[in-house]
Formats: sequence, C-alpha cells, structure tokens
Amino acid sequence: MFDSLIIDSPKRKVSAQSKLKDFFPYYAGFPESFAKSIIGSTSLKTGAVVLDPWNGSGTTTTAALKLGFHTCGIDINPVMVMVARARNLQAAAVDLLEAEAKKIFQKTSSINHHVSSDDPLLQWFDIDSTLVIRQVEQKARTLLIRDCGTLENMELNKYSCLASNLYVALFNACRVLTKPFRSTNPTWLRLPKENEHRLSVTKLELKQQFFFQLSNVVASLRESNIYSDASTESSIIVGDSTTFIRENYADLILTSPPYCTRIDYTAATRIELALIAPLLGQSRDELSRKMIGSIKVPKIVCAPDINWGETCNAFIDKLRNHSSKASAGYYYKSHIDYFSKMARSMRGLAKSLKSGGGAVLVVQDSYYKDIHNDVASIVTEMAQFQGLTLFRREDFAQRNSMSGINTRSRKYNKPTGSVESVICFLKKN
Ligand SMILES: C[S@@+](CC[C@H](N)C(=O)[O-])C[C@H]1O[C@@H](n2cnc3c(N)ncnc32)[C@H](O)[C@@H]1O
Repeated sequence: MFDSLIIDSPKRKVSAQSKLKDFFPYYAGFPESFAKSIIGSTSLKTGAVVLDPWNGSGTTTTAALKLGFHTCGIDINPVMVMVARARNLQAAAVDLLEAEAKKIFQKTSSINHHVSSDDPLLQWFDIDSTLVIRQVEQKARTLLIRDCGTLENMELNKYSCLASNLYVALFNACRVLTKPFRSTNPTWLRLPKENEHRLSVTKLELKQQFFFQLSNVVASLRESNIYSDASTESSIIVGDSTTFIRENYADLILTSPPYCTRIDYTAATRIELALIAPLLGQSRDELSRKMIGSIKVPKIVCAPDINWGETCNAFIDKLRNHSSKASAGYYYKSHIDYFSKMARSMRGLAKSLKSGGGAVLVVQDSYYKDIHNDVASIVTEMAQFQGLTLFRREDFAQRNSMSGINTRSRKYNKPTGSVESVICFLKKN
C-alpha cells in the first residue's frame, strides 16, 4: 500500500505560505501539496481513515478530505482546532458566511455591558476597546455556538465549520490590531511595557477590519474549493496526543510532532487564546504546560526511560553533563518533559494504527548548544519500541528553521540550518 510513496520536500514554499497566510498565518505546518502527494501516492481504499494527532492548521485533514478519505485531526490547542475546522467549510456553505457575520454586528439587548477585570484582552486593549471586541466575540459565541459549555468538556467539538470561520476572521482582525506589539519573530506577541498605552479600537474600526479579514477568508476558501460528498467524515477535535488512543482506527497517519526547540506553541496564538478565554476552561499557562515542547516544565520530572532508546538516552546524558548554566536543571527537565510526552504519544499513535497501516512523520532535528538532538532517530527508536517498522527515511536540509530563532544559542559551534526528516513506518500484520 505504501510502496510508491511520493515524498516531496516538507518545507513550505513562499507561494504556498502566502495562500495559507491569507487564511490564517501559521509558521509550523507542512505544505498541502506535500500532504496530497503522500496521501495520493498510497493505495488507500475508499472508506480509509487518515489521522493526524498533531493536526495544527489542518493540512493533513484538508488534503485527505479533498482526496475523498475520512479524516480525524487532534490538537491540544483549541485555536488550531478552530482553524483546521474552518478550512473544511464546504464550498456550498461559504456563501452563508457574510450573512452570518452581519448578524454579529447587529445590536441586541442581551449582550454584556461590562468587562471582567480578568479579561486577558485587557493585556493589549483599553477597557472600552476590550468591551467592543468582547461584545462581538460574545455575539459570535451565542449566535453560532450557543450552549456548548467550555472546552474542558471538549464541547468545542460541536462548533460548526461556519462558526469557526467567523472566529478565524476575528482572530485575524485582532492580529492586525495588535501589530504594534509584534516583532519579526512569527511566534511572539509581546505585552505592552508599563508606560506604554493600551490599544484603542472603535466598533467601526473593528467591524471594518473584521469584514476585510472575512473577505480574505472567503476568497481563500473559494480557491481551496472543498467539496466532499456527504459520506466523507471529518472530525477535528481538541485532544491530547499523550492520552489519545483509538485502537486499530487509522489506515494512514500523516503528521508532524511539535519541535524540540523551546518554542511555546501557545505564545504563537496568544491573542487568539485571549479571545476565546470564556470557552477555554483553563488558563493559557495550564494549556502551555500540557503541550509537547512546553517551555514551562514541572518541578519534578520522571527519570529518563531506557525504552526511549539509545539515541535519546545518550543525548540526555550529554545534555545533563554540559558545562553551561542550567543544563542539569531547567534544560534537562524541559527535554525530559518533551521526550516523555513523545514516548507516550508514540504508544497511542502505534495503537491507533490498523494492522497493515502506515505512519509518515515529519520531524526536525535541533541542537542543544553544540549537542545534536537527532529527533528523527529518537522518534524512530520510540516507534520501533511500539512495534512499528521503519521502511523509508528522506532527509531535507533546511536553511531557515525554527531552531535558528533563539539567537542566543548561535555562539555554539553547530550548523546554522537543520534537517527535516520524513520517516515512514509500517504496522505489520
Ligand atoms: C508542528 S505542529 C503541526 C503542524 C501541522 N502539520 C500543520 O500543517 O499545520 C505541532 C502541533 O502539535 C500541537 N500539540 C502540542 N502538544 C500537543 C499534545 N500534547 N497533543 C496534541 N497536540 C499537541 C501544537 O498545538 C501544534 O499545533
């Protein structure tokens, strides 16, 4: 079934980047063309299920749906679940978006007229502006999501693709409005300094920005042209890969686990998480701790496990004994946190694959100071421990990688780029 896989470079080309950028700017994904080549070059049968347990912006789920397969995407970040779900709005429903959006800006007496003092939007916006944004968000919530509860009980899963698109337009509008607090680092939105003014936005300004962003979203959905027949199921849900198991479920897993480069994925969606705070049921800090690759580590961490494999254990050993400050403390803990979460996820991933199924993972290596963190070999050994067989590996050198973003680490003697590896496994019958 996987003999003639076509493996293109997983690096997103500028043209593909700008397409997704119009929909929602996301830095960590692989291109849709890459996912389509992989899925399209398998001999999956009608009714097959394609799973991505780290679905991010939904490249795998969108590509699989377009190719006519059932899809399931999991991500721990509700913002990314909304984005991935929004991308799957059927062509016929795109025409409804603008009419629904207009309802959001109509006046009603039932909306809140005060701002809660702990509203996270207050970090960037003054009180009046926060009220304006929150009223619009509240209207979107009550109009389209109704009584779904909080995300704690996974009720986000009832959100329609339509509602998700309105949230994406609101996300993008708030991204533009908070531009004064952004730098060239795509993952970072800073907080105003003490003496800096909070942003001021009128309802009219928000409305104009919102409808401008909605027209981009609509144009990019029209270009993407999702049209699947009613028998194709797509479920994109909030979930944690470290605990997710759906035994013998997927025919193909196509995914890209979080990088091990100390990049906080919640930081990249800071303003979006602030917007959906009433639905989150947890703080950004709590969500951040659960993420793989979190920069917030628990005070007590487990010991390295021999079952994580030789490469992983040798790396941890070198890191712990590195002479630089905090190597044996913070950095040791944060890497243990990463590898233990990865090992648990690989168990769920292997169990969720059907016998005879295949898993294709895109992983990026990195450096801790001058020590090579060979994530591809580490993940391979973890997968093998769970009974999967490696049948192919392609390496692609990357010039600009996420591991280069932390400029302070450049003083060490190491290559400037990184290698992105596509590793392919089989679950033998
Ligand atoms: C490298 S990105 C995936 C990008 C995706 N392939 C795309 O094209 O957009 C990794 C994703 O893993 C998610 N993630 C981190 N920890 C997770 C966990 N414990 N369970 C599920 N998803 C998690 C992050 O939110 C992020 O969206």
